[in-house]
Amino acid sequence: MISLQVNGHTVQVDAAPDTPLLWVLRENLKLTGSKFGCGIAACGACTVHVGGNAVRSCSYPLSAVGSQPVTTIEAIAADPVGKAVQVAWIKHDVPQCGYCQSGQVMTAVDFLKKKRHPNEAEVVAAMGGNLCRCGSYQRIKEAVLDASNSLV
Ligand code: FES
Ligand code: FES
Repeated sequence: MISLQVNGHTVQVDAAPDTPLLWVLRENLKLTGSKFGCGIAACGACTVHVGGNAVRSCSYPLSAVGSQPVTTIEAIAADPVGKAVQVAWIKHDVPQCGYCQSGQVMTAVDFLKKKRHPNEAEVVAAMGGNLCRCGSYQRIKEAVLDASNSLV
């Protein structure tokens, strides 16, 4: 058994150390908000926070988590920046199919925690690694900028 801190709770997980974190979240813990897209750290659909940093959980082994807290989309509204991003996402009606969106939100929250008031080009650069097959990029950009403006 491996002990993890996930969304503020201590959980015990019966999984091999090399299991990707995404598998543990979705299969063991039934936190299915984080999605499997590519499985090779290329699309961002599986993005969660480990130790306060956005990581691609499809390619992040359980053994690398250690005592670092894990936050998933299921708990992001409990964070002030996460809440601001969630509100902006709803206001701008960002998702189309929605598949990529939890990863988009997790990347946006990590970015805004580190760069509270970015310019447009910085937003585009920061979000550029998260792919959206539906092409919601314009609304993602507007929502990140709006969330930024709502934060002091
Ligand atoms: S599923 Fe992890 S980056 Fe694509
Ligand atoms: S909203 Fe469909 S993949 Fe992004």
